[in-house]
Amino acid sequence: MRILGMDAYKAVIEKRDKRQFEDRPISEEVLLKILQATRMAGSGKNRQTGRIVVVESQEGRDSVAGSGDFGDWIKEAAVALVFAIHSDGGLRPDFDIGRMAQNAMIIANAEGLSSCPMTVYRQQELRDALSIPDEYDVPMVVGIGFPAVISDSKPPRSHPRIPIEDMVYRETWQDKT
Ligand SMILES: Cc1cc2nc3c(=O)[nH]c(=O)nc-3n(C[C@H](O)[C@H](O)[C@H](O)COP(=O)(O)O)c2cc1C
Repeated sequence: MRILGMDAYKAVIEKRDKRQFEDRPISEEVLLKILQATRMAGSGKNRQTGRIVVVESQEGRDSVAGSGDFGDWIKEAAVALVFAIHSDGGLRPDFDIGRMAQNAMIIANAEGLSSCPMTVYRQQELRDALSIPDEYDVPMVVGIGFPAVISDSKPPRSHPRIPIEDMVYRETWQDKT
């Protein structure tokens, strides 16, 4: 299966979280594809209480970065997608938001863009900065932008995954020791 010119498997498997970006905006057309992908994520009981604040201004991204502890790189991203979910509405809110965010990052990858999630540590600060109603939780942000050209002397950090046989059990959980 192919999505947007890139093999779907490749778009997923080769996705790495990258935090260094070129100073270049994302076209409205590509941004809309990314947002459409988040919109189509299924939600528990189809409640659809996830919302996104698209933050492109420097001032806005500075505020977003300030609400995390490991998010200074958001200041350099072209856009920050702030995921909000109604505190009463989601059946499994983290799962709902996770599906939305991963859809966004996979389509961004297929479009040649880099992205990374950022955890929000000070949700009230972020709600205040972006006028988000108090009844919405804002646990996660995704920063997206064109990948920076990295010199060979400073390759980006990527984290190995555990082997598939250490992660997957078939039929029942077996003792692997
Ligand atoms: C729930 C969650 C929260 C994360 N929070 C942050 C964060 O606050 N700042 C950050 O730079 N990366 C954050 N990350 C990115 C992880 O560090 C990254 O997914 C992991 O190290 C794998 O990186 P890789 O895909 O480049 O190998 C988060 C990822 C997840 C899934």
